[in-house]
Amino acid sequence: MAQETRTAIVTGSARGIGAAVAKRLASDGYKVAVLDLDEAACADTVEAIKAAGGEALAVGANVADEDSVAAAVERIAAELGAPTVLVNNAGIIRDNMLFKMSVDDWDSVMAVHLRGAFLMSRACQKHMVDAKFGRIVNLSSTSALGNRGQANYSAAKAGMQGFTKTLAIELGKFGVTANAIAPGFIETDMTAGTAARVGVPYEDFKKAAASQIPVNRIGQPEDIAHTASFFASEGAGFVSGQVVYVAGGPKD
Ligand code: CAA
Repeated sequence: MAQETRTAIVTGSARGIGAAVAKRLASDGYKVAVLDLDEAACADTVEAIKAAGGEALAVGANVADEDSVAAAVERIAAELGAPTVLVNNAGIIRDNMLFKMSVDDWDSVMAVHLRGAFLMSRACQKHMVDAKFGRIVNLSSTSALGNRGQANYSAAKAGMQGFTKTLAIELGKFGVTANAIAPGFIETDMTAGTAARVGVPYEDFKKAAASQIPVNRIGQPEDIAHTASFFASEGAGFVSGQVVYVAGGPKD
């Protein structure tokens, strides 16, 4: 629980893991900026937070665009308060084998994950440094370890880990921690989309994934939200620069 009412930004929180993280942080007591490309798409998450008694603001912004990020963070600071918790969750996939991967497939994945996390972190860090408190949580993936068809995404998600460790080193003396969560198979529109693309019914796809996972189930967005809640918490101030694989079993 935040000692005072802090403001958190969760990017890509219209749905999926981002929505679960936004709801969890709101129930932990933060004011939450629900940020996604399309402001109208944030309504469900915002309504769910408000219905549960929390405070939330829908913000439409493109994390890969410098001006859009600057305007969004300024608006959030003015309307909700200085953001001192940032969860860089916004992400896309453009899976393809290397020999068929277009430059646009490469650039768009890099732009959302890496440029997006960079721009959002840079815009928020001054509020964190001023407050002498900050929590940055970056979403990596088990794909960072390599995954067929994901040269772009795995490079971006490995990049998120290096980015996280450097932020931890640079910002630690200002009371700011940076950590990464690397989810395994999580039940979201993203994995449902992959099943559809490879032509496997989602139920079968999930069963096949679960059979490879030591805890014998696939993950839920709430599994990731729980870990984000820990990293954001006051008591996690001595945990920084870490990557936690939340994948139902060991990964390295
Ligand atoms: N040059 C020429 N030919 C090549 C080649 C090269 N460099 N590399 C491969 N090929 C050939 C292969 O030999 C094969 O030919 P044949 O069919 O004649 O054997 C062909 O190219 C490739 O065929 P595939 O059917 O294997 O590949 P595809 O193009 O249909 O799709 C794939 C491959 C993109 C990997 C697809 O199966 C896929 O999208 N899989 C899912 C990927 C995945 O796991 N994504 C995770 C999404 S969820 C997520 O990302 C969340 C998270 O964080 C974990």
